[in-house]
Amino acid sequence: MVANRQSQTVLITGASSGIGKVTCLYLAEKGYNVIGTSRASSRLGDLYSEADQRGVSVHGLELDINSDAEVRRVMPEVFNQFGDIHALVNNAGYSVWGPVESVSIDEMKTLFETNLFAAVRMTQSVLPGMIERGAGKIINISSILGRLATPFNGVYAASKFALEGLSESMRTEVSPLGVHVALVEPGLFETEFQRNQVRAARADDPKLAYAPYVQRYNARHQTYDRLASDPVKVSKVIHKIIRSRRPALRHPVGLEAHAGIIGSRLIPGRLFQWMLGRATMR
Ligand SMILES: NC(=O)c1ccc[n+]([C@@H]2O[C@H](COP(=O)([O-])OP(=O)(O)OC[C@H]3O[C@@H](n4cnc5c(N)ncnc54)[C@H](OP(=O)(O)O)[C@@H]3O)[C@@H](O)[C@H]2O)c1
Repeated sequence: MVANRQSQTVLITGASSGIGKVTCLYLAEKGYNVIGTSRASSRLGDLYSEADQRGVSVHGLELDINSDAEVRRVMPEVFNQFGDIHALVNNAGYSVWGPVESVSIDEMKTLFETNLFAAVRMTQSVLPGMIERGAGKIINISSILGRLATPFNGVYAASKFALEGLSESMRTEVSPLGVHVALVEPGLFETEFQRNQVRAARADDPKLAYAPYVQRYNARHQTYDRLASDPVKVSKVIHKIIRSRRPALRHPVGLEAHAGIIGSRLIPGRLFQWMLGRATMR
């Protein structure tokens, strides 16, 4: 497929489903050159067929963002084929679920490999070009759990809090060089996220003391899942950031994200923690 060098090029990681796929299609419809990655090109079938149905084209790219060697090998080929990358959307991610006590260090390291280190790796690969041109956007998909942490999501929240800290620091480093960093903080959206969630191997270990809380959490969570909304809302926010000359750092998306952030600001800390426990596991 020939890249259109007139249009701006956006590279989105984790484009095989959910927010990544929907955003590829949305931006392609808006006239961008869109490159969407997956660890396996065989998983990009839905992206291609939905693009065909809408009469737009997207460029699928097989890339294991968790591999230094692969990113070093593939990204120069991307620059050769597509030219400058105007915006990078670090979207690929998943969650590991379970009480912190139950999560192994290996499970946590693997999670951080994707949710944090891969985002850094991809950012480092596009930054030299952006800095040379004095323009570019790095858009990191965080979560409402990058702002507040609910029980049993501790390691996932840790990965997103880390991404938030990194982005906040980097934003100040690169803005004098013309590059803008922004965080998108979705609430609950209808994607494959819940199905792809990894339950820590020891999450349901009866030797641990959390069983009654885990049961209550699971029952309540099914109710919350019904609140999930259309991920195109996230795509619209990403588009707004790409178009903005000076985007803000943080962009919560969805009612529950806004409500959570406002609540955490206005409600005294202890009371807010108690309410989070009540709403999720007690
Ligand atoms: N859905 C929500 O309610 C929600 C809320 C807050 C934040 N988010 C964030 O939004 C982003 C997108 O998630 P989604 O909801 O669209 O979920 P999704 O439908 O499961 O899609 C996740 C994408 O990430 C990639 N991915 C998953 N695990 C990976 C790994 N270990 N290494 C490399 N790539 C991996 C997948 O690509 P492959 O084809 O390579 O598997 C897939 O395309 C994530 O960063 C997530 O944390 C989602």
